[in-house]
Amino acid sequence: MAFRKKKRWIPLSDQLTEMDKQIMAWEKKGKTVPTRELIKTPEQIEGIRRSGVVNTGVLDEVAKHIRAGMSTLEIDEICYDYCTSHGATPACLNYEGFPKSVCTSINEVVCHGIPKAEDILQEGDIVNVDFTTILDGYYADASRMFIIGKTTPEKEQLVRVAKECLEIGAEAARPYGFVGDIGHAIQRHAKKYHYGVVRDLCGHGVGLQFHEEPDVPHFGYCGEGMLLVPGMVFTIEPMINMGTWKVFIDADDETGWEVISGDELPSAQWEHTFLMTEHGVEILTY
Ligand code: MF3
Ligand code: CO
Ligand code: CO
Repeated sequence: MAFRKKKRWIPLSDQLTEMDKQIMAWEKKGKTVPTRELIKTPEQIEGIRRSGVVNTGVLDEVAKHIRAGMSTLEIDEICYDYCTSHGATPACLNYEGFPKSVCTSINEVVCHGIPKAEDILQEGDIVNVDFTTILDGYYADASRMFIIGKTTPEKEQLVRVAKECLEIGAEAARPYGFVGDIGHAIQRHAKKYHYGVVRDLCGHGVGLQFHEEPDVPHFGYCGEGMLLVPGMVFTIEPMINMGTWKVFIDADDETGWEVISGDELPSAQWEHTFLMTEHGVEILTY
């Protein structure tokens, strides 16, 4: 019996998914498009979602206990204990030399503040607590602001507007839109209050690693940056300064981690991990 030569099948255009077509079309036009590993499988999304549940539990636990007179090292202990007792690992601990499990950034500290026994929370402080969980190899990353007791109307407004910036940025993230749409929307809102939007640090892809592609800047122009497609997982985490957008690292800080606002005016930040869906983003760290 003679064997028929096997035919080679070339996918016809009607066999491509809507996503394939969009990616191919935008790539042809010279846009940055996501690689396969940035589009998570349903199984990976479930893993990141479970990690997000623990991450939210950590921040809820902080919310229950945070108060004036407490040291940021105590916050670190709360986070470490909750995370590890739920079978997860704090991603920050020993990450590129970071010495603790969580970032605690008070007032003019923009981000990456290191918990310390001698840093005691004072009435009126605004503090960002930023935690990242690794559960079964999946990463979820979120941060919140906490106001210690009563603060000034100026700091209260900064905290509120920074949260609005996150919400408005998330709303601007659309399937088959671009990463630049997010930053543009954030910058527009912050500008109304003459606040500075930090440029040196960005949101990021997340899920299988701590920091994946793409970078998610909190400023910029619509249509810039990577194409957003369903299945992508990334953070939005605007750092909003009361004054200048510029930041620095103190030359005397031998760890080189803590980022301070250029004019040492207060700074606020909120962060969530988002899944892009067919309809817009879903928060995985609620
Ligand atoms: N969680 C931070 C982020 O949102 C990263 C902190 S890195 C650390 O990307 F090493 F400082 F913990
Ligand atoms: Co974070
Ligand atoms: Co992050």
